[in-house]
Amino acid sequence: MRLDRGDELSAGAAGAAGPAPGAGSEAPRCAFGFVGCGRIVTATVRGLVASGHPAEGIVATSRTNAGASALAEEQGIRVAGGAAEVVRFADTVVLAVDPAEAPGVVAELAGTLREGQLLVSFVASYRLATLEKALHGPVVRAVPNVALAVREGVAAVAAGQRVERAHWRQVHALLGGIGHVVVTDDASMELVSAVAGAGPALFSAFGEALAGEAVARGLDETTAKVLVAQSLRGTGVLLGAGMSLPEIAGMVASPGGMTRAALDALAARDISGTLGASVDAALDVSHRRLV
Ligand SMILES: NC(=O)c1ccc[n+]([C@@H]2O[C@H](COP(=O)([O-])OP(=O)(O)OC[C@H]3O[C@@H](n4cnc5c(N)ncnc54)[C@H](OP(=O)(O)O)[C@@H]3O)[C@@H](O)[C@H]2O)c1
Repeated sequence: MRLDRGDELSAGAAGAAGPAPGAGSEAPRCAFGFVGCGRIVTATVRGLVASGHPAEGIVATSRTNAGASALAEEQGIRVAGGAAEVVRFADTVVLAVDPAEAPGVVAELAGTLREGQLLVSFVASYRLATLEKALHGPVVRAVPNVALAVREGVAAVAAGQRVERAHWRQVHALLGGIGHVVVTDDASMELVSAVAGAGPALFSAFGEALAGEAVARGLDETTAKVLVAQSLRGTGVLLGAGMSLPEIAGMVASPGGMTRAALDALAARDISGTLGASVDAALDVSHRRLV
């Protein structure tokens, strides 16, 4: 569904939340507008729609609109012709473009955002202060992860100085139904990205390596993958049921047993050092491109 002039003229076409300040009274309103429509926005939109948010209350655009069109096809969201159009139709604007593209897109947004209109930035390595300096409005920086797609995500958020209570409600409406929201500060965001933004990839890589070791020792690949994937999933469900990571490990490992031996072998090969190197590598990239 594409937003165009026809939509502007059809009152309530978006199943709307009512006209927003500064918009024409007949403009279809969208609660959320996404500038950039790649993997993290796809995950966010899938989660929002799965949680009951009306698809016609979501609008998106991207450089080529390939991602937005695909998501429109899949989920029924609206497609806008550019960032300015997203700003015009949306109450909350979410910026989710590649870090290298962000300064140009922010400059474009600076002249279009309405007074008090909230911008939530998912962009990595893009400081809150830089956003505030460019936009002079309420901004929230968020680091989500792709598990938002299945409403099991996590998102760390840091708010700029112009963020008010009503903006927090908008942040909660965006992320609260599809993930756990953790309020933090801007200075922690690079570390958050390295640990939780990257988290699903890191745990997946760990699972792949574990399955690979089983295959190397003779287990067939399909069986190995099912066993590891279901173990990972089950661990997540145990966490969701309220258990802590040490409690889960304690349910499995007993003194002198094989799991204890496996954990000791991991510790002896410095699993902390390995993960530390992984976090440092991510931080290194993040800090080098920080603006
Ligand atoms: N993926 C994650 O798990 C994750 C988690 C947290 C934060 N983030 C951050 O979120 C941002 C997006 O990540 P992603 O993984 O979704 O990236 P992605 O899959 O590569 O998608 C990037 C999107 O940005 C669009 N884009 C690029 N330049 C643009 C421009 N000038 N105007 C409008 N749209 C533009 C692209 O459009 P075209 O395809 O049409 O070129 C594409 O839709 C990044 O800053 C990333 O660091 C990602």
